[in-house]
Amino acid sequence: MDVNEKIKLIEEQIESAVNDVKSSKTLQEIKMRFLGKTGEISSMMKYMREVPPEQRPSLGKVLNVLREKVEERFDKLETAIKELELKKRYSEEKIDVTLPALSSPDGAYHPNTLIKNELISIFAGMGFEIFEGPEIENDYYNITALNTPKDPPARDMQDTFYLAEDLLLRTQTSAGQIRVMENKKPPIKILSPGKVYRSDDDATHSPMFSQMEGLVVDKGITLCDLKGMLDEFARKIFGDSVKTRLRPSYFPFTEPSVEVDVSCFECGGKGCRLCKGTGWIEVLGAGMVNRRVLEGCGIDPDEYTGFAFGMGIERIAMLKYGINNMKLLFEGDTRFLKQFKD
Ligand code: PHE
Repeated sequence: MDVNEKIKLIEEQIESAVNDVKSSKTLQEIKMRFLGKTGEISSMMKYMREVPPEQRPSLGKVLNVLREKVEERFDKLETAIKELELKKRYSEEKIDVTLPALSSPDGAYHPNTLIKNELISIFAGMGFEIFEGPEIENDYYNITALNTPKDPPARDMQDTFYLAEDLLLRTQTSAGQIRVMENKKPPIKILSPGKVYRSDDDATHSPMFSQMEGLVVDKGITLCDLKGMLDEFARKIFGDSVKTRLRPSYFPFTEPSVEVDVSCFECGGKGCRLCKGTGWIEVLGAGMVNRRVLEGCGIDPDEYTGFAFGMGIERIAMLKYGINNMKLLFEGDTRFLKQFKD
């Protein structure tokens, strides 16, 4: 066959083969059929060996022109197809940025956690360190070492849950005071948050609740230091104009012992429903660490003195957020909890 005819035929074959090519993959296959090592054009190159030497240069030229033309044709087709494929992918993967996003509901801190964190940051600012004692205690830490009298009513002043004869759920974080003083020599400045348990259950009491204990032991600590620290605490948690007052009380592990009231932050002391008309609200128990407790922990009460305080976290939360039923703090109702989002 005449070379020119053969070339024309190849060109026609290429055109009909690429006519309805839609993917770059099939285009690549067709390209190999014509331009590959065993493809049509290569076999024509091999055919050159069979023509007389004087005709080879001109044939070579023609074939080179053909190859370049075909290569260019395929390059163009490839670019066009790739562009189409890209457009198709873009339209398939298109994201509608105007669609409203799916929202996942945010949680909120429990009021107890809010108060606990607030207390920790107030007292950490005064240099207190955190100590967390065990919730399961024995008689020694929860009762005896805290100088509790031997008679049965005094021993069970706090409606203790017993797990075994000498094993109980701590009724007060004060148990941690002993653990700290046994292991650390003064100066001591400890804040101890934690759960406590008492068999008590009504609108203002729950069998499980949380306390925050504080203990400071050093040389020359006095009741004045306690009062000054309480003033600072009350202003920070209830507001700048709040004052504190101490009333005599009794705890076996402190002497003297006091109940601490804050002036009513709702009515400013005039008397309202929150303070039951008295102008004052009781917030915590405190006192100077009883010298017998210090002695029992190996601390010389003639050299060192200290104060301790303990408050109910739920009680502070109820006062601060105006919650009238303690049960709300234990039910986990999200309608209630959501209100504390800050
Ligand atoms: N532990 C006492 C209570 O639970 C509170 C308290 C702590 C009192 C420290 C004085 C000193 O009621």
